[in-house]
Amino acid sequence: MQDNINSVVATKDGSNTLFSKRYNQHYHNPDDGAIDESLTKHVIPTFTFHKNKKELNILDICFGIGYNTFSTIYYILQNNFDIKLNIYSPELDGNLVKSLDTFDFPKEFENIKHIIKSIAQRDKYSDDKVNIEVFIGDARKYIKSLPKNFFDIVYQDAFSSDVNFELWTKEYFDDIYVLCKEDCIMSSYAIATPIRLSINEAGFFIYEHRPVKRKITLAFKQKQEFIGKFVDMELKKQRNKEAVALYDK
Ligand SMILES: C[S@@+](CC[C@H](N)C(=O)[O-])C[C@H]1O[C@@H](n2cnc3c(N)ncnc32)[C@H](O)[C@@H]1O
Repeated sequence: MQDNINSVVATKDGSNTLFSKRYNQHYHNPDDGAIDESLTKHVIPTFTFHKNKKELNILDICFGIGYNTFSTIYYILQNNFDIKLNIYSPELDGNLVKSLDTFDFPKEFENIKHIIKSIAQRDKYSDDKVNIEVFIGDARKYIKSLPKNFFDIVYQDAFSSDVNFELWTKEYFDDIYVLCKEDCIMSSYAIATPIRLSINEAGFFIYEHRPVKRKITLAFKQKQEFIGKFVDMELKKQRNKEAVALYDK
C-alpha cells in the first residue's frame, strides 16, 4: 500500500481509510467512518431520491479507495434492490487503484471481493447488474468525453478545494451540468458558500440536508421538494458581498 504517499487510518465505524501525504488530507473523515460517510452522505440520499428507477448511471468523482462505488453495491445487495448500476469514475492515482487488491476493506465488502479484484487488475468490472469503469487520469479531461444528459447521480467527493481546486470551480460544474439528466441529483460533503456558489452558477439549485450529524449539499437541475432544505444562493450573495464562486485560473 503506497507507503510513501498514503498511510492507513482506522475510522470510527471500524472501516479503514487512508491519509494522503500528497494532499495532506484523509480520504474519509476518521470521526465519521469510511462506509458510514459513503452511505449517509452519498448513497442513501441519492438512492432515496431515485427510489423508483430500475437503472442508474452514476458518476463517482473520484474513485479513491472506491468506498462510494463499493458502498453503493453493498447497499443494493443489502436491500435486495432490483436495480442495474452503471458507474463511471475517474481517478488520477492508478497505483492506488492497483493496490486495492490488498487493501484491508471491512467485512461489509466481503462478498464483492471479486469486483474489487477486477477493478484493481483491469480498472473495470461487468456483470448483468453492475458495470464499473474506472478511468485512470484527470477527471477534468474524462468528463469531457462522457455522454451528455446521461447521469442520474453524481457523487462529488474530491479532496477539499484548497488542495483539489480544479474539481470545485464553476467551469468544472458547467461540464458536470451538461452530463446530468433533468432529474439528476448530485451529493457532496462540501457545504462552504464559495463551493455552493460554483455549483449554483453552473445552473444547479442548492439544497441542504442533514442525514446524521453533519450537513451535506444536494444539487439538482430542477427545484424539488423531496429532500433537504432549499438554499437561496441569490440571497446569500446579497447578504454576503464577499462571497464568490471559485473560477478556473
Ligand atoms: C477524497 S478522495 C476520494 C475518495 C473516494 N470517493 C472514496 O470513496 O474512496 C479524492 C481522490 O481524488 C483523486 N483526484 C484528485 N484530483 C483528481 C483529478 N483532477 N482527476 C482525477 N482524480 C483526482 C485523488 O487521487 C483521490 O484519490
